Parts: sequence; structure tokens; C-alpha cells
Amino acid sequence: MKISIIGAGYVGLSTALGLAHHGHSCICVDRNEKKVNDINKGIPPFYEEDVADSLKEALDKKLIFATTDYTHAVQNSDITFICVGTPSKVDGSIDLSQITNAAQSIATAMKNKNSYHVVCIKSTVLPGTAEGVFKKWLENESGKKAGIDFGLAMSPEFLREGFAVQDFLSPDRIVIGELDKRSGDALEKLYTDFNAPIMRTSLKTAEMIKYASNAFLATKVTFINELGNLCKKLGIDVYEVARGMGYDKRIAPHFLNAGCGFGGSCFPKDVSALVSLFKKEHENSDVLDAVLKSNTAQKKKIVEILKNKIDPAGKKIAVLGLAFKENTDDVRDSVAIDVIKELKKHSANVYAYDPMANGNMKKIFPDITYADTPTEALKDADACLIMAAWGEFAELADSDFAVMNNKIIIEGRKILDRTQVSGIEGVCW
Ligand code: UGA
Repeated sequence: MKISIIGAGYVGLSTALGLAHHGHSCICVDRNEKKVNDINKGIPPFYEEDVADSLKEALDKKLIFATTDYTHAVQNSDITFICVGTPSKVDGSIDLSQITNAAQSIATAMKNKNSYHVVCIKSTVLPGTAEGVFKKWLENESGKKAGIDFGLAMSPEFLREGFAVQDFLSPDRIVIGELDKRSGDALEKLYTDFNAPIMRTSLKTAEMIKYASNAFLATKVTFINELGNLCKKLGIDVYEVARGMGYDKRIAPHFLNAGCGFGGSCFPKDVSALVSLFKKEHENSDVLDAVLKSNTAQKKKIVEILKNKIDPAGKKIAVLGLAFKENTDDVRDSVAIDVIKELKKHSANVYAYDPMANGNMKKIFPDITYADTPTEALKDADACLIMAAWGEFAELADSDFAVMNNKIIIEGRKILDRTQVSGIEGVCW
């Protein structure tokens, strides 16, 4: 099938690469000309293992093409996916401006298209957005009728950054929210050779499934973080407890890695937006209120542990891992940002290192020192904080930490190899 995808970020490009892998022809649309030119040259706009290879493969097969031209993209495709960002506003509510812009451009293009076209939202939007807001925008601008002249669907993405293409190709489920059967049928046809259950439902149920999934996972992480804090006090390894819990199919072993709190562009904003919706509807959101409160406290723990050991003022503190998690260069809402802010507040000299995210963090903190290797960051350091579970940190040994001035190692993510490194303290282990 011919697909157009609005927004060439990690969701949009991963969707395009996944669909191209299944032989569909994809046009990526983005307003950012540099991004468009890079994609056409085979340069992905974000780091993820194997993405450059998948992009090269898709370009070689001529199954992917990027453009800034919405009209061309809509007129030369059967389905348009909307994969633009829906960031939080200052008050925590959702900013739909990118969705509005996309709707306007698609509707203008649909005005002059005679054949049936399906528009599918993949971006995370609050329940009621597709049917209550988005449909009207498209109808008003295009002069066409949803459910007759064009189709409307909402199919949330469940892709983890760092594994987005892999997750797209091997989904646990595919959720298709549909305005009408014809729209859902068009979407389902795309996924016929995917080995995953397909659930068809209403637009607003699909929208809620996305929020509920992220909020539940954030709750699971928060639960294990709090349990970890208690286990640490009692001399119990929370990772062993998690393993024992995870064998229970009702609990499952995933997302039970205790640590320094969750970050990223999804969990914090999605939980906040869902909480705002609870409040708007005058319903209690006690569980999710507690998740946000607990995560804020958890993010502070690692520096508190450090301060109990040394006064960070004037000390060299190595911060290893800046991305919000391993295998990505994304630093949005990374816990490392909170930690660096706190260290700077205490006049520490921060030496930061990340295999992929130094450049992105430099845009936020141009005034700290960035190292090209862990050893460079560790040299003469008075303490080391591990903030992301990059595989290369598992290779570090006592000999690497021997260059430190003072061997204080505090892990925010459990990654160091205990047989190779001694004297590690974890944030909650
Ligand atoms: C999350 C969801 O996992 C995806 O299913 C969803 O599609 C995506 O949001 C989205 O809405 O776009 P992502 O934010 O990429 O994916 O990253 P996760 O792997 O979920 O991690 C989120 C945060 O939780 C990270 O800071 C991570 O370090 C932390 N985490 C995760 C833990 O502290 N412990 C865990 O066991 C798992």
C-alpha cells in the first residue's frame, strides 16, 4: 500500500521503516528541511541501533522518500499516519498545535483529492480528541465528510525509544480505533502479515488504551522503586525480589527494574496529562498523583546519597549516562538533567559522559565538561553517578575506576558488573 507519514521523529520514521520492511511504499513528511534531506541521504534524525541500516535498505528499495510537501504526500498515498509530537504545556495539559497544523495541511491536500483517503492518528492524544476535535478540523478544512469521503482511525504506538523499529516489527498487539468499519478495514489490511493480535475498537477507547498503558507501566516502575528503597534499608536485593515476583504471569518480569526514577518524553507527560483529565472530570487520581509525587522524590535520591558521603561543592563529579535511558540519544526529561541541575546548585564540577547523548545534553548545559570516554570523566573524580544502563558501562572494571580521586560509585541504574567492580552503592539496592 502507499502510506504517508506526517512527522519524521522516532515514531514516524520507525513506522515508515517498519512498513517499508513489509513492502509498503512510504512518504515521510516533515517541516524540517534538514531532517528531510538527511533522511533522503540515509542519515536518521535520531540514534537507534540498526536504524541507519534499515533506512539504507528502504532507500535502496525505493520504499521510502522524505519531503516537506504535504499535498504531494497525501495525494500519492492511501493512508496518512500522524506521528507528530504532543508535548505538555506549562500547566501539564497537552499541546495539540502540531496536530492542528498537520490536520490543516492534510485537509487542504484532501480537498483536491477525489479518491477515498484514511487519516490515522498515531500521536498520543487524550480520549475524545480524534472524534471530538480532529474530525471537525478535517471536515471544515477539506469540505468533505468523515466516514463517507474519508476515513478516520487512531492506532496508538507502543514503541520504546532505542527499540522502536524492533517494537514496530514485533508488537504485542495492534490497536485500531475506528470511526467506521471501512476506516478500520483499511488499517487492518496493512497489518495482515504481522504476527500479533489485532484489536478493533472505538477511537476514544484506542486513545485511552495508550494513556492507560503508559500510566500503568510508570506505576509499575514507581512501585518497584519504592519497594527498592525499603529493601535497601532491610538489606534485601530488590532485583531478586522482582525476579521472584516476575515469574507470576499476572505480574510479569518486565518494567520491574528499580532505579533513580523514570524520565523520557512519554511517561512524565502522559501521566500528567491523564491526571489533568481525571481532575477535569472530577474523578480521583490518587494512584497517579502518588506516582508523580514518588517519582519526583526518587529523582532526588541519588544526589541525597552523594551528599551524605561528601559535600559536592568544588568536587569533580563524573556523571555517566545522560540520555533518559540506554540505547538512545534522547535527553528529554532525563533524570540526569535533574541531577546535573542539583549538582550545579551545590557548585560541583560536573564531568559528563554518554556514548550518544553528549551533543543533546550540551544544548541544555553548555557550561559543564563533556568527556569522550568514561575514563576521561572518571579521572581524578571525587564521585561517580551512573544514570543510564548503557551496555558499555557493564564492561567497566575496578581498573577503570582506579583513576578516581575518591572511589565513590553510586548507581542510579543497576548495570555495573559486581564481579568486576567493588564498592558500588545503588540508589535503592
Ligand atoms: C514508553 C513506553 O514503554 C512505550 O510503550 C511507549 O510507546 C512510549 O513510552 C511512548 O509513549 O511513545 P519510552 O519512553 O521510550 O517508552 O521508554 P521506556 O523504556 O518505557 O522507559 C521510560 C522510563 O522508565 C525510562 O526513564 C526508563 O529508564 C524507566 N524505566 C523503565 C525504569 O526505571 N525501570 C524499568 O523497569 C523500565
